[in-house]
Amino acid sequence: MIASGEGAWVTDEDGNRYLDGVSSLWCNVHGHKHPAIDQALHEQVDRISHSTMLGLSHRGAAELAGKLVEVTPDGLDRVFYSDSGSTAVEVALKMAFQYWQLRGGQHVRRASFICLEDAYHGDTVGSVSVGGIDLFHSTYGPLLFESRRAKPGDLDDIARLLATHEEEVAAVVIEPLVQGAAGIKLQPPGYLREVRDLCDRHGALLICDEVATGFGRTGSMFACEQEEVTPDLLCLAKGLTGGYLPLAATLASEEIYETFLAPHEEFKTFFHGHTYTGNPLACAAAIATLETFEQEKTIANLQPKIDLLSELLAEIAEMPEVEEVRQCGFMAGIDLGEHPPAERMGHQVVLEARGRGAIIRPLGDTVVLMPPLAINEVELERLLTITRSSIRAACRGSVSRAGQRAAALLDGPLSEAA
Ligand SMILES: Cc1ncc(COP(=O)(O)O)c(C=O)c1O
Repeated sequence: MIASGEGAWVTDEDGNRYLDGVSSLWCNVHGHKHPAIDQALHEQVDRISHSTMLGLSHRGAAELAGKLVEVTPDGLDRVFYSDSGSTAVEVALKMAFQYWQLRGGQHVRRASFICLEDAYHGDTVGSVSVGGIDLFHSTYGPLLFESRRAKPGDLDDIARLLATHEEEVAAVVIEPLVQGAAGIKLQPPGYLREVRDLCDRHGALLICDEVATGFGRTGSMFACEQEEVTPDLLCLAKGLTGGYLPLAATLASEEIYETFLAPHEEFKTFFHGHTYTGNPLACAAAIATLETFEQEKTIANLQPKIDLLSELLAEIAEMPEVEEVRQCGFMAGIDLGEHPPAERMGHQVVLEARGRGAIIRPLGDTVVLMPPLAINEVELERLLTITRSSIRAACRGSVSRAGQRAAALLDGPLSEAA
């Protein structure tokens, strides 16, 4: 039971402190209880906490939209708000679909999507339809629309799908550079750029889901920048508010936006609006988050920490218990190889780490590290030291006293959720 947090640390109700090794589910950026974000929220509470974006707007939403257009790749000039990564993707899928319907004629046949195997784009039914993780998604098969899945990193495969179904593909959906929930799986350099070119060649839109990779996580503000790619639709959430509040944005090109413009009675409207869309508190946190990127030179200061993380991971990669280590910027996956599911090896490592003062999470038998960008070098070394000894202890087969203590704390219905 987490009671408070500060910087890269969280504290539980018994006063135990833990390093937040996964940024409170990949979203915290500048640390917990950041003074500038806290202050922006206090000031916003004193004005208004919520008003609707349906038929109205507010200064924070407009200001944030302007800032997002500035910081994202050139060519994304329009912003649509929602509340989570899943809804940011849902919005992008619906926009892409409706865009082709509105274009009319032959274009209405462009009604399907290409995604990647092992993809994760969220838990709503549309985003699950372009997902590819059986454990999370297969149960819902009958509810989903059909998408075509390309082998990640295999350009020939995606080229083949685009060529074979040229006039049916509305968009390619992709997590750029790295597939997070798949287990931090990296794409080869140049892959994203080539996918962009293939989409152009075959007339399909490109949707980049930067819900996980956005806001510095891969070492640049957005992963797309590293391959000089501008998608037609860009999905943002998680780090958008610094990890403070639920807010998402789907950015679109002017061309897509203009296709939806018409007199009311033509009903070209994008009928999609959530109650808390563009919530003023969340927008205030997001503006303060973007300002903090500038003031603290977060991206520039991150580079030495990424190098340090690489050095520390290299030591972990040498461990006999570790099969492979994968890193993209400040996202890392430590693959423990295949263990019988009942052993829950990734989970055991997490319990060991909890007993040693770090919160980390597994994806199956891959241990994920994704600390807040604001973590300092000393804390980063400590996180990696804890991770190393936790892997060793868990893989030795006997759960240590630290692990037992953590397991006892989680006893009962909470243990599964851990
Ligand atoms: C790439 C990607 N897209 C979408 C999502 C869904 O985001 P949310 O949990 O905010 O709905 C996630 C969540 O981990 C993600 O990693």
